[in-house]
Amino acid sequence: MALKINIVQLKESGVVVEVKQDIAHINGLSNCMNGQLVQFPAGSEGVIVGFNEDYALVLLVHEGGPVKPGDKVTSSLETFSIPVGNEFIGRTVNALGKAADGGPTIHGEKKYPIFGTAPSVLDRIPLTEVFASGTKIVDMMIPLGKGQRELIIGDRMTGKTTIATDAILTQKNTGVICIYCCIGKAEASLQKVMEIFNENDVWKYGLIVSATASDSMGQQYLAPYVATSIGEYFMYEHGKDVLVVFDDLTKHAWTYRQMSLLLERSPGRDAYPGDIFYLHSQLVERACKLSPQLGGGSMTHLPIIETLQGDVTGYIPSNTISMTDGQIYMNSALFGEGFKPAIDLGLSVSRIGSKVQWPAVKELSGMLRLEYVKFKELQKLTRVKAGVSEDVERRLNKGLAVQELLKQLNSRPVPMEEQVVLLYAFRQGVLEGHRPEDIRGVLDAIIKRVKLDKPEVVEELIKVKELTVAMKEALDEEFARFRHTAV
Ligand SMILES: Nc1ncnc2c1ncn2[C@@H]1O[C@H](COP(=O)(O)OP(=O)(O)OP(=O)(O)O)[C@@H](O)[C@H]1O
Ligand SMILES: [Mg+2]
Repeated sequence: MALKINIVQLKESGVVVEVKQDIAHINGLSNCMNGQLVQFPAGSEGVIVGFNEDYALVLLVHEGGPVKPGDKVTSSLETFSIPVGNEFIGRTVNALGKAADGGPTIHGEKKYPIFGTAPSVLDRIPLTEVFASGTKIVDMMIPLGKGQRELIIGDRMTGKTTIATDAILTQKNTGVICIYCCIGKAEASLQKVMEIFNENDVWKYGLIVSATASDSMGQQYLAPYVATSIGEYFMYEHGKDVLVVFDDLTKHAWTYRQMSLLLERSPGRDAYPGDIFYLHSQLVERACKLSPQLGGGSMTHLPIIETLQGDVTGYIPSNTISMTDGQIYMNSALFGEGFKPAIDLGLSVSRIGSKVQWPAVKELSGMLRLEYVKFKELQKLTRVKAGVSEDVERRLNKGLAVQELLKQLNSRPVPMEEQVVLLYAFRQGVLEGHRPEDIRGVLDAIIKRVKLDKPEVVEELIKVKELTVAMKEALDEEFARFRHTAV
């Protein structure tokens, strides 16, 4: 006789003993584990975040109705999972993966745990492809790779979000899925990003996970994990490249600190709990480039951290710097001077992306950082001197041209092939003899002309990613004509 097995779903019930802000103390859940979901009678939900000898500590994440002492709760003894699926594209969801845009309910195709484990060493491969950010300074001098974790760090209002949204805009028509995760920001900041999504049709390949400052502590805590889980679905199931932006992890750390103090965990440095490093490292570890056996997808993380008066030695900034593969440091002084994007080249670095940079960009931008730093020194030295030699004058002019070349407006990402053309034009001296204020117009004109007259060079460049002798000759010819007509 065949053996019949009935699959029994285990459940456990307990009772609410006490509720302190968003933390409920629950008695009777003797088999539960951290990260499991608990359901309250009025439709509220919570996630287990700790224990003591007498009760389980549950963070309320979804308020269906009031939770009060004496309420009976149930735990299905399963890790907290969210539905994931293609339906998420084009939607704004809350930190539980539920529709937050007034649109239809999202059912999902599968369930993914929100505290998923990072892929093992064997499941990953070294980065193989460049991640185009659309920001010239980044792509030329701080190149990123698909699967990299690059921190965007800087004071308030220095253009941090803009670097991330420009990276999202750059992914248009590339098949990369973009997830913007808002954590603890004001509603108005989120609205700005949504406008960028609306104006540029980002909804076709992007989605937003939103936990603003007005959402519950639980939602702000869970948001980055949920965003990563949704990204993992596209990476594992469809072999896609995914970008996840966390805006910002400083607010996330604040939420976790508040939560830990309510949980009566002993405060450590700056009143943060001892496991604050684990909190973020566990998250960014999930960024990766998967092996071909697992579909070859990737997940790139761009976490944002806000500093106070440019101090990168603070606890949370230094923690996050050490767990990422580099940082883009935004300098408020540069922003004030009008050098936008205000990326400080002295303090910014990409530790792994340069291996996958386009050979053409590498060839042309190799010395650019040094040239620019030297120019800034020279500029400082000559500021007080009235007359300078002809040679110094020439070097200053060249430096000013580099400076103008590196500037760019927000929401106007520059594709990699255009960056190559501009760099080559600079190397061939096309920008010389123009006043700095005219250079932006000259750069636009060069791109327009090359695209019109030499589209085959641009197409070839996208394919081979390097400038062959023939391509250089074609561009030289175009530049000669440009010089002739521009005079
Ligand atoms: N390259 C740029 N050119 C011109 N304006 C820019 C540029 N980058 C950012 N800005 C403008 O500067 C302002 C601040 O930018 P953004 O919101 O990206 O900064 P932030 O550091 O994210 O700010 P917050 O601290 O509020 O999050 C915005 O009004 C934005 O439009
Ligand atoms: Mg911002």
